Amino acid sequence: MHLTIKKIVVSLLFVMAISSCNTTPKQDFIIHKDHFGETKDGKPVERYTLSNLSGMRVQIITYGGIITSLEVPDALGRPKDVVLGYDTLLQYEKSNPYFGALIGRYGNRIAEGKFSLNNKEYTLVQNDGKNHLHGGNKGFDKVLWTAETELLEEGARLKLYYLSTDGEEGYPGNLTVEVTYTLTQDNSLAVTYKATTDHSTVLNLTQHSYFNLGEEEDILNHELLINADAYLPVDETLIPTGEIEAVGGTAFDFKTFKAIGKDIENKEIQLLRGLGYDHCWVLNDQGTGLRTAALVKHAVSGIQMEVLTDEPGIQFYSGNFLDGTLPKKNSSSFYGHRSGLCLETQHYPNSPNEPSFPSVVLNPGEAYSSKTIFKFSN
Ligand code: GLA
Repeated sequence: MHLTIKKIVVSLLFVMAISSCNTTPKQDFIIHKDHFGETKDGKPVERYTLSNLSGMRVQIITYGGIITSLEVPDALGRPKDVVLGYDTLLQYEKSNPYFGALIGRYGNRIAEGKFSLNNKEYTLVQNDGKNHLHGGNKGFDKVLWTAETELLEEGARLKLYYLSTDGEEGYPGNLTVEVTYTLTQDNSLAVTYKATTDHSTVLNLTQHSYFNLGEEEDILNHELLINADAYLPVDETLIPTGEIEAVGGTAFDFKTFKAIGKDIENKEIQLLRGLGYDHCWVLNDQGTGLRTAALVKHAVSGIQMEVLTDEPGIQFYSGNFLDGTLPKKNSSSFYGHRSGLCLETQHYPNSPNEPSFPSVVLNPGEAYSSKTIFKFSN
């Protein structure tokens, strides 16, 4: 009797196993987690791999929310990693020009690290000469984020959380930040930023991936289009002068596709100050929600990236500070001059000191929200 029951149970389990195999919904996305390393002070760092069925795979670590690799199919369908990065956590900790990282609290520069808000003057860390850059000495690119994943019908999602406490790098208010990376089947990676504060503060979050869509050493043959009729000229320390200048007919005109290398060596003051392109473009169609901010493509690989955002500006940085000293991932060589380009969607640099620029103030009771999509096609 006992044996018969056992047999029945075993066969039932077998049938259930088979039928569950048949009825398991098709898995459209995969999320895999592994250990990436330990920080210098002994904290574990995890790596999340998100893949879809269309050949896109992105890897993100909990240190800095850094995208360490982003593979998309090229024109022949071969996977190509299109972002710069390192092999080890130690390399990211030692010297990272913000490869792949989340940037906060303030992406870009604040003049002399000073601003006033509600009649109070704040002094931030000065980490770029006299200016404050990308959140200071320990910005969001160097902190550990708490991760949570979600496998949805429409995408694979990695949610990252961080609490930036009052006074961190000089900023006021306890700030709760949530950044979500979502990979979808159309080879898009969406980045959404949300934040709240308990005290008025300034905020300008962005993503600092360096892209190279081809096999060449530099990005000069990439063709770029920026949906902007104007840009922000800068002073010698790369702080916007406050003027908004039309790009028409200048080296800054990317209203239609143009090779990045075409005008980059022009001997004009703005390019000399930036050592190339390192400026914020004033995007068209502000206040209309998500729209195309930039398109960049590489003829040989056939890969194109579209950047969509609801932000008013985009910093196009042509990798001018890369100088052949930083080690390349999966390789024994180094990242050369201008081997990657950044398209950082954001509010304008130094907005806290420029009343005419769109506001970057976040008050208690308000919800910061912004979205950028990197969409790939071949
Ligand atoms: C930003 C800045 C550049 C440079 C890079 C990082 O894009 O605008 O000047 O600091 O980050 O090297």
